[in-house]
Amino acid sequence: MRYTFTTEDLPNLAVDTIVCFKPEFDDVTDKTLKQLNGATGGAILTLLKSGEFTGKEGETVTLYSPVGFKARRVVLLGLGKARKTTADSYRRAMGVASRLKALSRSKSAAVCFGRLMDPACYQAAIEGYLLGSHKLLEYKTGEAAEEKPELGEITFAVEKPAGLRKLEKAVDRGIVIAEGQLLVRELAQTPSNCLTPQIYAARIQELARQYRVSCRILDEKAIAREKMGALLAVAKGSTEPPRFIVLQYRGGPAKQKPIVLVGKGVTFDAGGISLKQPLNMHEMKQDMTGSAVVLATILAASRLRIPRNLVGLMPITENMPSGHATRPGDIVTSRMGKTIEIINTDAEGRLILADALDYANKFDPQAVIDIATLTGGALYVLGYSGAPIMGNNIKLTDMLRAAADATAERVWEIPIWDDFRERMKSPIADLVNSGGRPAATATAGAFLESFIGDWPWAHIDIAYVDLEPDGKPYMPKGATGFGLRLLVELLSNWKKV
Ligand code: BES
Ligand code: MN
Ligand code: ZN
Repeated sequence: MRYTFTTEDLPNLAVDTIVCFKPEFDDVTDKTLKQLNGATGGAILTLLKSGEFTGKEGETVTLYSPVGFKARRVVLLGLGKARKTTADSYRRAMGVASRLKALSRSKSAAVCFGRLMDPACYQAAIEGYLLGSHKLLEYKTGEAAEEKPELGEITFAVEKPAGLRKLEKAVDRGIVIAEGQLLVRELAQTPSNCLTPQIYAARIQELARQYRVSCRILDEKAIAREKMGALLAVAKGSTEPPRFIVLQYRGGPAKQKPIVLVGKGVTFDAGGISLKQPLNMHEMKQDMTGSAVVLATILAASRLRIPRNLVGLMPITENMPSGHATRPGDIVTSRMGKTIEIINTDAEGRLILADALDYANKFDPQAVIDIATLTGGALYVLGYSGAPIMGNNIKLTDMLRAAADATAERVWEIPIWDDFRERMKSPIADLVNSGGRPAATATAGAFLESFIGDWPWAHIDIAYVDLEPDGKPYMPKGATGFGLRLLVELLSNWKKV
């Protein structure tokens, strides 16, 4: 997306469409509204009286052929109550706008912020536009495949030229972040036959090269040499061999200890011998979303030159039933040496994360954060509205909370209590991989905790927030890419923990 800034007044903006944000209003007193009211023969006052547009969130109205304007149309976007307006209001408003024909059919558009100079709102606006208009067209044929929006350039109209550099940087950042989030969505929505562990690994390697991130791929033999018995136990049921990816980005001084990000990469989760029900099983193509967030975060960190050393670890496998598959009751030995009794082969995410968390020790990390579509139970914790997090370090969870507030990707901490740890003990092995239904999200966290080293750690369960069931302003139905904005923000504002 190309963009420019201008200080031209509304009538002089030589674009197809002008977009203005409007908080709820009950009078035509502000400058833009007055100008528009004049140019449209009083349409704004008429609208206001009709109640059809008052600036409520989600409302839009398009006014055509304003007299004395160079632009062909003006789109007003409702922001909601002024005192409740945040950066995310702009993200949402632009998400709604992105799907209006008035915009997708325009070749050029100007977005007017008036006197507002908060870089976060500019960043959110461009993110909302790019995220809202996203559609997966790759698997369509014929006319539907041609549905691309025509808009190629956005002009940001501001009142004064002072401080433009900061706003430009914010828009650049918004583009990188939206592209990262779209990459997560694209990978998540790619069907499992087009994204086997091998295909996925090759794609990661190519992206890493493009963005100057180092990438090492362990194949099944190297994984066996590493004694990743838990990962291998999951992979066994599939004819597709597993992969283990190590990404490294060095944005900080050589002596700075790295932050390690670990992402679950199950390219399809059938449940294994503990086979899932057919209803919604197709959604389990998205069970690699955690790893995609790790990948996209590290690529974005490289593009934004975040001054941190980062490592990304991505265990990648399918979880399939077959004659070669691990059976319920089998006992496997993890990389760390702890033995695990497999109660339920559908609790595979924690198994592959266990080996990846142990592998993180190799890098002497200053902190480790894992992200995974881990438990169906997350639906009953925060639903589609936020991600449960767990961890062992208050500073780290506080930083995640602050990043969540800034990005509107919500998280909330749930505890790891001894009760949950008890439930993960096996009578005959060190651990079981399933603690049953009660507090399943928390017992999964307790299981992961037994594989961490002597470092601050946080776990983010993105089951369900990775999927938008209905369609929201900047989240069309389907994969959301949740976690990318959160982690990039976290790393950008990182403080020692
Ligand atoms: N990938 C699933 C979790 C999941 C379920 C994510 C639905 C998104 C939507 C995970 O591997 C899984 O199957 N977890 C089981 C664990 C249980 C058997 C202990 C679950 O949560 O039901
Ligand atoms: Mn599973
Ligand atoms: Zn899974």
